[in-house]
Amino acid sequence: MISKAIFDKGCRACPRLATFLDEVQQRYPDYYCGPVPPFGAPDARFLIVGLAPGMHGANRSGRPFTGDHAGILLYQMLHKYGFGNRDQSESVDDGLVLSDCRITNAVKCLPPDNKPVGAEINTCNSFLANELDSLPEQSVVLALGGIAHRAIIKALGERQVEFPFAHAAVHDLGQFRLLDSYHCSRYNTNTRRLTEAMFDAIFATAREMLDKS
Ligand code: URA
Repeated sequence: MISKAIFDKGCRACPRLATFLDEVQQRYPDYYCGPVPPFGAPDARFLIVGLAPGMHGANRSGRPFTGDHAGILLYQMLHKYGFGNRDQSESVDDGLVLSDCRITNAVKCLPPDNKPVGAEINTCNSFLANELDSLPEQSVVLALGGIAHRAIIKALGERQVEFPFAHAAVHDLGQFRLLDSYHCSRYNTNTRRLTEAMFDAIFATAREMLDKS
């Protein structure tokens, strides 16, 4: 039976990831080291989908994009465009509250070398499918990077060739609109594949889409 759950704290469905988390927990006993739950209200109309927890970020703190470089620009933009009451996410008890926004990951567990394999993306995909299914009407989903984008298309059972990933592309998927961005990773921002201005424009688009709907 397919579960309608959007998250399972005790999930060990991917043997490689579960074993890796056990090892990392030994090395860093005070790290969270488990499937990282989505952050934000269940009825939010703006869903941001990242790739997977980072070793010293979400895997340490237990909140997506919290504690490593990838979250810096993301939380700044959320604050600038009225989706967050603070411009930084430091820990699960820092008082940050998101408004009409939730952040999740295509893969909920930390993968070795930040790279989930296809089978892990597929195994975790039912959680994402259920999360997408629970979105209110007129929602906007922001995919951070091609892997998140393709996980979303897969979760909907749509054909990848009909919805190719491209930075700043908007795809009408019926139940919601999908907006694409390059991932806000340290690599992408350092190499300026994703500049602050480019990311700002993505959030301006999302804000406008939500305000008009
Ligand atoms: N942290 C996350 O939670 N997700 C990412 O995709 C990157 C860092």
